[in-house]
Amino acid sequence: MKLKIYRYEEGMVSPHYDVFKLEPYHGMTVLNALFQFQEQFDDSLAFRYSCRGAVCGTCAMLINKIPRLACRTQITSLINEGHKISLSPYPAIEDTVSWNPKDEVLVEPLPHLPVIKDLIIDTSKFFEDYLFVEPVFKSSDPAPEKERLMEPVAVKEVEQYTNCILCAACFGACPINGENPEYLGPAALAKLYRFYIDTRDIKNNARLKKADIPNGWWACEFHGNCRLVCPKNVPPNTAIAKARAEITRIRMHSDK
Ligand code: SF4
Ligand code: FES
Repeated sequence: MKLKIYRYEEGMVSPHYDVFKLEPYHGMTVLNALFQFQEQFDDSLAFRYSCRGAVCGTCAMLINKIPRLACRTQITSLINEGHKISLSPYPAIEDTVSWNPKDEVLVEPLPHLPVIKDLIIDTSKFFEDYLFVEPVFKSSDPAPEKERLMEPVAVKEVEQYTNCILCAACFGACPINGENPEYLGPAALAKLYRFYIDTRDIKNNARLKKADIPNGWWACEFHGNCRLVCPKNVPPNTAIAKARAEITRIRMHSDK
């Protein structure tokens, strides 16, 4: 079994791929395979990781043409995977690199963000979008003596969006992010919606209005890739659909 890895650094005319014969062991992850490549083949291979436990979100990359976490993806699961995950197509996963999924694991940088070196991408745009939505709790109510309480049902609704680890896998899987560099993207919009429905947060429509722009809620075409690739089961497409329905409802109400 082999590892086929994208290699690029500044000054190169075009990227190339290195192929390395892997010595897989039980439980080996793609991240482990990258370490093996560094130890046995080329220690200049560049990639990001930190927690090695699907918590920090830094190791997202394109593995067998699907954005996912290298630390959580086991080599054996890829070999037996077949076509279990079928994404709505977009250029970065459809390009013509030759690769045999039965015998090779293909590792490439996450699409839609510039490559700095090998598997390391510049995530500035992703985090600019995230900061644009002001992802911090705001309340106009005075601070209570103890904690700000929420109904359990409201907690449950918010919880599904709070698990985001900012890995940007959804950004790299979204065909709209590929076509339109100004689109805020699934993670930022899911976070914005998370604050809109937080019953302790500001009680007006300012959160919704923040992304009521052509490159916000309305740019999504509901391909659904964001939800399919999210390692934490965050459903950005649901957040976007609900936000749009809410804006439409508010507009209809104000027209009466
Ligand atoms: S929504 Fe999911 S895929 Fe997107 S950044 Fe958050 S954890 Fe990653
Ligand atoms: S190394 Fe932290 S999520 Fe993979």
